[in-house]
Amino acid sequence: MSNNPLTIVTGGGTGMGRDVALDQAGLGHDVLLVGRRPDPLEQTKTLANDPARLSVVVADASTPEGAAAIVAAVQARPVRAIVAAAGGQGDFKNTGTDPSEVDSAWSDALRKNLFSAVLPIEALLPLLLDGAGRIVLIGSTAGLDGQGGPYATAKAALAGYGRDLAVRLGRRGITANTLAPGFVASTGFFEAGGFGDSAPMIDRAASQTLLGRVGQPRDVTACARWLLGEDGGWITGQTITINGGTVMVR
Ligand SMILES: NC(=O)c1ccc[n+]([C@@H]2O[C@H](COP(=O)([O-])OP(=O)(O)OC[C@H]3O[C@@H](n4cnc5c(N)ncnc54)[C@H](OP(=O)(O)O)[C@@H]3O)[C@@H](O)[C@H]2O)c1
Repeated sequence: MSNNPLTIVTGGGTGMGRDVALDQAGLGHDVLLVGRRPDPLEQTKTLANDPARLSVVVADASTPEGAAAIVAAVQARPVRAIVAAAGGQGDFKNTGTDPSEVDSAWSDALRKNLFSAVLPIEALLPLLLDGAGRIVLIGSTAGLDGQGGPYATAKAALAGYGRDLAVRLGRRGITANTLAPGFVASTGFFEAGGFGDSAPMIDRAASQTLLGRVGQPRDVTACARWLLGEDGGWITGQTITINGGTVMVR
């Protein structure tokens, strides 16, 4: 078995996670893809120039059992980087006022978007390479402007966790940053959130940017590549927005 350092990408079967994972594999890194559905993970492997660079683990990153399964799949190999892209919308858009419904919706949002990063990352910290380790969290512009209720709040908390990691890991020479994308098309995000990914919706989102277009996964991958590479070595504790200037339009 190879002992090459691993790059772990949660949510690596679709959307931004898949794009970042394929990019890292293309740069010659061994990548472990994490997701709950096996099919998208296996499909991602087939898209790589060198599928042998990619391995998969089917796991729910937002549960202790899932985090343990990820650690088991790593097989004590050194970890070069962790990209936490797992997350998304859920049934927590309209929480109502009933305390038990509110509890359920907010717990769900935090589990999907915060715990899915915290549980695997905390478990993997001992394996992260001193002097070279990298953590990139995929937050959201929604976490900055507050639009999106429990989802936005969970993404804001995720960025807080990124800063906490940066403080704790700085002296080990490990960086931690959060990317906060705006509307990124060609992902499963809007489908999974029950919004559809319709042309009018894309047009509306494009009109809310300074640049007049929505994002594509490659826009996020370019920034992740920089943070995950040597050139990003003195950037830590930051939240970087990738949104075509969306926040400035508001
Ligand atoms: N698209 C946008 O406009 C946008 C904007 C800002 C931020 N974001 C964030 O960007 C990240 C990536 O989303 P995306 O847009 O690329 O959408 P996506 O294609 O739906 O990607 C999310 C991926 O995460 C996986 N996943 C979700 N929950 C998981 C869990 N508990 N454990 C393991 N894997 C899990 C999903 O696969 P399984 O269902 O098979 O597990 C899926 O492959 C998300 O955190 C999302 O909130 C998206």
